[in-house]
Amino acid sequence: MLAIEVRGLTKAFRTYKKPPGLWGAVKGLFHRQYETVHAVKDVNFSVEEGELVGFLGPNGAGKTTTLKMLAGLLYPTSGDARVLGFTPWERADGYRRQFALLLGQKNQLWWDLPARESLELNAKIYGIARDGFERTVAEMSELLDVRDKLNVMVRELSLGERMKMELIAALLHQPKVLFLDEPTIGLDVVSQKKVREFLRHHNATRKTTILLTSHYMADIQELCQRVVIIDHGAIFFDGRLSEIIDRFADFKLVTIQCDGADRTPAASLARYGEVVEQTSASLKLKVKRERVIPVCKALLDELPVSDIDIEEVPIEEIIRQLFARGKTDGKS
Ligand SMILES: Nc1ncnc2c1ncn2[C@@H]1O[C@H](COP(=O)(O)OP(=O)(O)O)[C@@H](O)[C@H]1O
Ligand SMILES: [Mg+2]
Repeated sequence: MLAIEVRGLTKAFRTYKKPPGLWGAVKGLFHRQYETVHAVKDVNFSVEEGELVGFLGPNGAGKTTTLKMLAGLLYPTSGDARVLGFTPWERADGYRRQFALLLGQKNQLWWDLPARESLELNAKIYGIARDGFERTVAEMSELLDVRDKLNVMVRELSLGERMKMELIAALLHQPKVLFLDEPTIGLDVVSQKKVREFLRHHNATRKTTILLTSHYMADIQELCQRVVIIDHGAIFFDGRLSEIIDRFADFKLVTIQCDGADRTPAASLARYGEVVEQTSASLKLKVKRERVIPVCKALLDELPVSDIDIEEVPIEEIIRQLFARGKTDGKS
């Protein structure tokens, strides 16, 4: 069963462009100049029930806008989406009770209340029964290691603790679909790991469908088998994370062990590839994929090689390069 179906989803923002300077401001009073930004352009994808999909893209790619449409916070300019059979922006009560949106960059809890009371207010809004509430809060705060922070004012929690409380708040009504927009942004490494483990556990035990955006590749690599990549509002990859290497990795890393590896000047190694590391006993080169075999042959011929190792470039680096490429390509 499909939990999320997105067809031709498009969102254009029309923003007022203020001309520079005072004269510009005066002119602007009479002739307003508008600019249309296509935040999301003809996006199509679908997610199976229970899937945990990574939604990736550089800043400004259209991720948050897409999630906000799927959560019914924004109307699309055109296109359609169904989540659990509902059209999100119709804002049916039946839908509201079955999904949650967590915005990592925004605070959704009451700042001036202890965390527990803030959670209680959320429970009241959703009409969640007392014992169910107590059980969920106890279980989740334990898993997230914030049980002893429930009586602390939200404003006094650390960012990591607050985000964990936000996560509990988002899950109180046991949503079937969860949209997570940068839930680990700015968190310390330990909290990031805790949140990741929690999400993995939650997805596995509750079969919650999760669409997750994150800038941390560790989140994506540990949680998502499938990723959807968006850039300039359009999707350019939808598939298994491991396929990204096949599709987009132009290089492999070749490491050789050889005595006196630092005696060969880097300049003369340039014909094989870029020297990544050179020590007295080893040499690491970034080599074009299609040249790996001939380069290995040549190295074996020319140097006293005792061992050779060929690895893929880490996926993190490939994604970083993809995004960098997107930026310099401009809006095409
Ligand atoms: N309310 C808005 N008004 C005008 N432009 C917006 C608005 N929200 C987002 N945008 C623009 O839409 C594009 C996509 O933004 P966003 O969805 O936030 O990207 P991401 O979450 O991938 O970083 C950006 O160019 C952003 O500036
Ligand atoms: Mg965003």
